[in-house]
Parts: sequence; C-alpha cells; structure tokens
Amino acid sequence: MCAAVYVLSTVTGYVLTSALLLKCPNLLHRRKRETFLSRHISHRGGAGENLENTMTAFKHAVDLGTDMLELDCHLTKDEQVVVSHDTNLQRVCGVEADISSMTYAELPPYLCKLGVTFQKECFCEGGEDKRIPLLRDVFDAFPNTPINIDIKVNNNTLIKKVSELVVKYDRENLTVWGNSSNQIVKKCYKENPQIPVLFSLPRVLQLLGLFYTGLLPFVPLKEQFLEIPMPSIITKLQDPSRLTRSQRFVAWLLVYVLSFYQEHFGFFVLKGYSAQN
Ligand SMILES: *[C@@H]1O[C@H](CO)[C@@H](O)[C@H](O)[C@H]1NC(C)=O
Ligand SMILES: *[C@@H]1O[C@H](CO)[C@@H](O)[C@H](O)[C@H]1NC(C)=O
Ligand SMILES: *[C@@H]1O[C@H](CO)[C@@H](O)[C@H](O)[C@H]1NC(C)=O
Repeated sequence: MCAAVYVLSTVTGYVLTSALLLKCPNLLHRRKRETFLSRHISHRGGAGENLENTMTAFKHAVDLGTDMLELDCHLTKDEQVVVSHDTNLQRVCGVEADISSMTYAELPPYLCKLGVTFQKECFCEGGEDKRIPLLRDVFDAFPNTPINIDIKVNNNTLIKKVSELVVKYDRENLTVWGNSSNQIVKKCYKENPQIPVLFSLPRVLQLLGLFYTGLLPFVPLKEQFLEIPMPSIITKLQDPSRLTRSQRFVAWLLVYVLSFYQEHFGFFVLKGYSAQN
C-alpha cells in the first residue's frame, strides 16, 4: 500500500512537472532567437519549375516570393564550394565522374532535361542556364534570402569553407545547415555554433523518444530546425492504389505525428525531398 502511494505520487509528480515544463519551456531553457520565419521553401530552388540548383531556379523562386531557398553543397577538386545535389554527375550531366574529381572550370553543364526526383514521371526542361553555380554566386545574388544548406559529403574542408562563406557574407542569421547524418551535423555545430543546425535523422528519432517519455522538457537541444521528408511524398512517388495497407497506415501515422509537432513547435522546416536523399 505504502509503496503504491509512493510510486503513484512520484509518477504524478513527474507527469505534472513534465507537462508544465513542456507548456512553459522558458522556465528551464533560454528561448532560441528566431531570425527568420519560412512558410514557403523552394527545394533545390524549385526543381519542378527550372533545372534544380541553378541560378535561374533560385532567381525565379525569389521573384515569386519564396521565403527560403534549399540547396545542396559539394566541394570540387580545387576546393570550390559548388551548389549541386548528387555526388556523381551521371544523372544531372550524363558524365560518369564525381564532382570532387574535377576542378570548377572542368565541371560539365547540366543536361537539357532533368527528372524531378520526388515527383513520379515528372521532368523539367531547362532554359539557357545549365551551369553548376558556386555557393558564393548564390550569396552574392540573394543577400537577404534565408537559405537551407544541405552538406552532401562528410568532408571537413567543405564544412569549413561553407562556414567561412556564411561568415564572410554575414549570413549567420539567414542560414540553417546540416545533413541527415548526425556525424556531419556535429561537425557543423563544432565548426560554427553561431549557425543554426538541423536535427539529423537519429536526433529526430531521439526527439520523438524524449517527447513520448515526457523527458523532452528537461533536455537542452542544440538544433533549431527539423528537416523531414513529407510523408505525402510516399504517395506521390507511388501509385496510391499500389500502396499496401501498412504503407498507407505508416504515411497516415507520420502525417499525424508531424502535424502535431508543427502545432507545438515554432521551429519547423517540413520539406519533401527525393527518395535518394
Ligand atoms: C575533401 O575534399 C577535398 C576536395 O575534393 C579532397 O581533396 C579531400 O581529400 C577531401 N577530404 C576527405 C576527408 O574526404
Ligand atoms: C543575429 O541577430 C541577433 C538578434 O536578432 C543579433 O544580436 C546578432 O548580432 C545577429 N548576428 C549577426 C551576425 O548579424
Ligand atoms: C548526408 O550526407 C550523405 C553523405 O555523407 C549524403 O549521401 C546524403 O545525401 C546527405 N543527406 C542530406 C539530407 O543532405
């Protein structure tokens, strides 16, 4: 009897404290500065409307009033930070070589027509602009647009160079960077803790675990943004009639869990991306 009362009061105390702190996180944690708010994010600059990750795509998206550009970074052989998604140039340029094996001057142009990876049977035909841009070109052209930078290779030089560029262009308050790999995010944070980082995939899972056990309010978080594939992408990539019942259930569950998060946290980047990310 006595033990039951003890257990019950401990559990009640924990649940109440956890609920209170979840409601009022500022009691334990300092509020993170919110330097920009993005409702509309252009993935690879809007890969369905222009060739992905080109200056033309970014310009079009910004002209339309997008709140944020999303792009991907690699390092060339001569250590230039370029904006492109794949490590290998086969899909986008038709050339069997890695970006890291060529100097910036040697990089081939994009093909005229690229598949939009996260949309089934959708291709985008580009115009004149087929050049892989430098990250510096994007920073020069859009000094006030928030940018989400995906670090595509676990390369210390790349991380260092991106950080240097962000600092040089005074964009620490306009940037969020990271990768689904926690190793890369940890390196980014270590390189420059002033630049907001994304939750990596293991950290997203940890976040969910902490939330559902009531531990979340007690744990400090270094990350500021979530970058999670939109579950609806699953249904876009596949014919919905061919989805199994369990696939449909998982998609539904993810939408449910994620919309719950969107309601409860201000810092939310929800984006769809390709199956091969
Ligand atoms: C990082 O990239 C540069 C340039 O492509 C390359 O020379 C270097 O070996 C890479 N470092 C690692 C650890 O992969
Ligand atoms: C970022 O914004 C904060 C407050 O909004 C400001 O104190 C800080 O100086 C800014 N940092 C840079 C590098 O502009
Ligand atoms: C994370 O980095 C890996 C290489 O380490 C890359 O294959 C992957 O596409 C990256 N993911 C994201 C979301 O940037």
